[in-house]
Amino acid sequence: QMGLKTTLLGKKIHYFEEVTSTNSIAKEIAASEEEGALVIAEVQKGGRGRMGREWVSPHGGIWISVILKPGIPLRHASRLTLVAGLAVANVIRNMGLDSRIKWPNDVRINGKKVCGILTEAKAEVDRVDYVVLGIGINVNMDLKDIPESFRAGSTTLKAELGTHIKRVSFLQDFLFELEQQYILFKTQPFSHILNDWLALSDTIGREVKVTTPSRIIEGKAVGVTPDGALVIRKADDTKEEIIAGRCIYARS
Ligand code: BTN
Repeated sequence: QMGLKTTLLGKKIHYFEEVTSTNSIAKEIAASEEEGALVIAEVQKGGRGRMGREWVSPHGGIWISVILKPGIPLRHASRLTLVAGLAVANVIRNMGLDSRIKWPNDVRINGKKVCGILTEAKAEVDRVDYVVLGIGINVNMDLKDIPESFRAGSTTLKAELGTHIKRVSFLQDFLFELEQQYILFKTQPFSHILNDWLALSDTIGREVKVTTPSRIIEGKAVGVTPDGALVIRKADDTKEEIIAGRCIYARS
């Protein structure tokens, strides 16, 4: 009904006008759904971001959760965040915009955030039962519809491109690209995806300050591990790997 170009993603679509959070719904139904099922909403009233933050989700954006069952160890689930970020960045680049990825999951244009990804997984022992990839893309909404405290550092595709975007065809292109990347993820060494991700990342080589719930680490971002952890070289020349945190660039 949506003219999708995919075979796996979107075989089943749960579409809502308004939800609290597509990720919450996806997690509720994931056990009884087949891989590739989607939850899409026009508006989220309780959209969730990483690290317990709120994700403002008015009309005009794309708020979607993808249910995947890759049968991987739990420690590899964060790789799917990189897969999704790469897919979003590729699709936006195909529109002629220079999008880059800020570790771990922000897709940005001209240094401003246009997409966030929240990956949630459930595992039995060490195998994941399912992974919910929650993807929020600021497409056509007016930035003035976003409270000022959330607006700083954000942009929309419409603002960057200067025209209204056809959300359905954007979603078709995105799901096609995500499916291609997911197939590569399942069939190729992860280093291939990681190399593509690194080529689009604007984090590596920068001075960063990363805040985690327990501490703050400052230094130069020098790499990403196969599990998606950021490697930071500190002033004393020792290296640290950080699985998750809030990353701020020291300059620009
Ligand atoms: C972040 O950058 O902190 C992640 C934002 C993730 C937002 C998406 S929108 C669809 C899905 N449902 C949610 O509640 N969150 C994710």
